[in-house]
Amino acid sequence: MPHTMVIFGASGDLTQRKLIPALYQLHHKGRLPEETRVVGFSRTEFSHDRWRSKLAKSTAKFVGDRFDHESWRAFAENLFYQRGDIGNANDFSKLAYVLNELEKGVSSTRVYYLSTIPQLYVDAVNQLGKAELADESNGPRRMVIEKPFGTDLQSARILNDNLHRVFVEHQVYRIDHYLGKETVQNLLVLRFANSIFEPLWNRNYVDHVQITVAEEVDVGTRAAYYDSSGVLRDMFQNHLLQLMMITAMEAPVQYSSDLVRDEKVKVLRAVRPMSEDQFEENTFGGQYEGYSQEKGVPPDSRTATFAALKFWIDNWRWKDVPFYLRSGKAMSCRTTQIVIQFREPPHMLFNLGSNRHFDANRLVIQVQPAEGIQLHFQTKVPDAGMNLRMTDFDFSFAREFSGSLPDAYQRLLLDVLNGDASLFARSDEVELAWSIIDPIQSVWDGPMAPELEKYPDGHWGPVSCSKWMRRQGREWFDVCPILH
Ligand code: BG6
Repeated sequence: MPHTMVIFGASGDLTQRKLIPALYQLHHKGRLPEETRVVGFSRTEFSHDRWRSKLAKSTAKFVGDRFDHESWRAFAENLFYQRGDIGNANDFSKLAYVLNELEKGVSSTRVYYLSTIPQLYVDAVNQLGKAELADESNGPRRMVIEKPFGTDLQSARILNDNLHRVFVEHQVYRIDHYLGKETVQNLLVLRFANSIFEPLWNRNYVDHVQITVAEEVDVGTRAAYYDSSGVLRDMFQNHLLQLMMITAMEAPVQYSSDLVRDEKVKVLRAVRPMSEDQFEENTFGGQYEGYSQEKGVPPDSRTATFAALKFWIDNWRWKDVPFYLRSGKAMSCRTTQIVIQFREPPHMLFNLGSNRHFDANRLVIQVQPAEGIQLHFQTKVPDAGMNLRMTDFDFSFAREFSGSLPDAYQRLLLDVLNGDASLFARSDEVELAWSIIDPIQSVWDGPMAPELEKYPDGHWGPVSCSKWMRRQGREWFDVCPILH
């Protein structure tokens, strides 16, 4: 069946930086389903050819030496442009006409991709409904929506209600690009296609779990958006909770979209709600020095650019195992890593010397940029009595497989075209995630907000956050990955 992808917000940054480069690379690798056309829709006036040549330039820039003129020409023949305004019902009737013309009445899968500002999501969905563009009598109709899915639980519910007035849930694909990362999918493979990790993956062997998404960049030119969002909404409600769900979930009975998502949702349902007096003990906020001088940030801004949260998952597998999640901008290095920190051996035979420091086993899943996995274990230092040292088994995608890892959007766009929603967030998942983040955000925004500690650019967040961890007898794994 032919496929048509309509991109709303076609003249925007995401289209140029991610969507078209991903679609082009899929085409170049021969993975794009045959007869896939892309129709751009936005207010700017373009002819088909002008849009194509603008995209040729941006795609060449973003894919670098993987850009091939010959294959671009073939791909570009299937790029079309239709000027239109989301506020104008007439423009949607015109769009419907153009799509029918392109498809020549042949049943086709249509994907509507909302790459506009979030304020236009509801209008776009309503217009699609009014123009009967969601009707599936002539082929599947799918709606792709980018984050943010609301800014809190209430707005997420309103957005979901509006979506569900026009589309049924199985037609809706909510993108969290972290789920498109190869290493995140590999976490499912590591856990459920191997039998040696799963028996250890529980409260009997795991002391705690650390999930860190550290960014070296600061807010850059996005201050206007970021200052009203902050790190909890920008990173935790979506990416960090997704990583936690995949780390903590039970094995689904089958790898199918609803069964996978059912298991993920159960993790969120098991997160222990924090009572008011626990926010201070379990949450930690920070702001990088210099944030309030960024262009577009009010000098007295109380927006957190760093957070560390401690969650408990109250189920049989994880009872009393803390999950520490942390993320921040302007940190030491760019690294996303999940550390499964195992318990110490129950009884130590070896003399550890006066400082008695002992590192227990650790499994470090490097999500990016040094994609790989390391298992840390103690070894006897040769010819040195019974001295011990931490060494590791080290797996790296770059060493093991040739070629660079594809950008997350390639996988996600292909899944939408093929109708596989496993790697997309379901409405209940999104709402539960907000119900976990909202109470923290509202304490942080309210009169009882804890002090936001400043941290210098290029550090692992506020100093007190390390002390907080140490007081609990634990250490953050503050190690920048080695790039191979
Ligand atoms: C986005 C956030 O969702 O994810 C950004 O809005 C953040 O603030 C980005 O920089 C991080 O994504 P990645 O793939 O670079 O880790």
